[in-house]
Amino acid sequence: MDALFVLESLLRNLQAAVKSIGLYPPTHPTAARFLTRIAEDLETVLSEQESLVLGVVDHALVALGLPFTGTEAIALAFAQRLEERGIGSVEFLRGCQPEDVSQCLQVLALSPEAFGGLGRLEDILAQRGVQAIRLSQQAPTWGEERPVEADDWVAQGKDELEWATLGRCLKVYREAVGSAKRILTEARMGKIPSLAEAQATVAGMVDGVLQDQNVMLALTMIKSYDEYLFNHSVNVGVLCIAMAQSLGLDSETIREVGLGALLHDIGKVNWPETLYQKPRGLSDEEWALVQRHPLDGAEIVEKMGSVSPTTLEVVLEHHLRYDRKGYPIVDPDKEPGFFGMIAQMADTYDAITTTRVYQNAAEPSGAVGRMQALAGTVFDPKLIEAFVRMVGIYPVGSLVRLSSGELGLVVKANPADSSRPLVRLLFDRAGHRMAKEQEVDLTARDPESGQFGRTIIMAVDPATKNFDVAKYLEGLGGGTGA
Ligand SMILES: [Fe+2]
Ligand SMILES: [Fe+2]
Repeated sequence: MDALFVLESLLRNLQAAVKSIGLYPPTHPTAARFLTRIAEDLETVLSEQESLVLGVVDHALVALGLPFTGTEAIALAFAQRLEERGIGSVEFLRGCQPEDVSQCLQVLALSPEAFGGLGRLEDILAQRGVQAIRLSQQAPTWGEERPVEADDWVAQGKDELEWATLGRCLKVYREAVGSAKRILTEARMGKIPSLAEAQATVAGMVDGVLQDQNVMLALTMIKSYDEYLFNHSVNVGVLCIAMAQSLGLDSETIREVGLGALLHDIGKVNWPETLYQKPRGLSDEEWALVQRHPLDGAEIVEKMGSVSPTTLEVVLEHHLRYDRKGYPIVDPDKEPGFFGMIAQMADTYDAITTTRVYQNAAEPSGAVGRMQALAGTVFDPKLIEAFVRMVGIYPVGSLVRLSSGELGLVVKANPADSSRPLVRLLFDRAGHRMAKEQEVDLTARDPESGQFGRTIIMAVDPATKNFDVAKYLEGLGGGTGA
């Protein structure tokens, strides 16, 4: 039987049993039924190996060196239960009986405080006569350690090449944010912003994307909490330009899409400050303002001068969905426009990867997954496919855990195999920052075994590692600058 399938069944039963033991005695038929199932699952898994280690790494539940993905909510709940009790891993040994599992779950069902009073973690189960299950503070170890220095795995020379443009791209990015700030502030004061300035800014952004798309995409990880709208405008601009470029659109169209994207939320300048901070519970009037911002925006943009229908479509339709829902619905029979749909994807991606008053940011790969799940309703399936191909399932700027145990930052997408991008190693297996950061090519194979040297196991939320991707990039790019 499929090992993963058994593990997921085991996990479901463990979580159900520990909850029911908290409510009923372990001899209660409900709890007893789960205990029998757990013993069966364990027997299956342990027929192929001596022991099974279930543990927590980066707040995720991991077994056999892999995180649980199919049972996310249950796995998170179980991981949290272990973490709250200071348990890094639970090891089930061959021969483990339902009675052992029952003892183990009875202590896990205790509150963290009561559990903490049981004494030394390693002794808790032994004192209850359980030899076949062990608790430990130690988190599970990862697959095989890999030397970084093996020439085949280190992306030779790419190091300097990729990052040489970072300083230049950062300059473009910062200038664009400054320009977005000027344009939106003028509009807020009721003035008509300069179209020439907006066009010049977009031209700079297009150049940046042409010179180094990866670095520009990485810079969209720079989010500003206080000045959200300025960074957001530039991020959506960069994402749309990169998308238009990867779809093979001509340079004029790329600039037109970019201009619309930079200005897409200009209609928000009519909002009162309080509306930005408000996730829900909007009054009818406030909701009407929200729904009107694409129309208001298009009106402001038209006043700025002669702009193309492409630019206007981006502004007008960036909240229209593929299934013709969203807002504003001007003509219920009109198909959502191609350029509007590009903007809608970029807008969503930047919004969900940004920490807002009312939400925690999703890390980039999580955002991609969430968006893929909405293909066919919110997003055009073909466009979302192209978007994922462009950013990869682990987009540039994602922090990832590798099979070698190291943590690294994705610095370059690999369109040929999106699960094997170029990764810059930042933390070693023990979790320490590496003195020398090197980039490794995940397509490289071990010359002896022919196996891949390193594989991404999971994406890690940088916040859990106290790692600020934006600050890191700014540090690499040379100072904080203006
Ligand atoms: Fe918007
Ligand atoms: Fe937006």
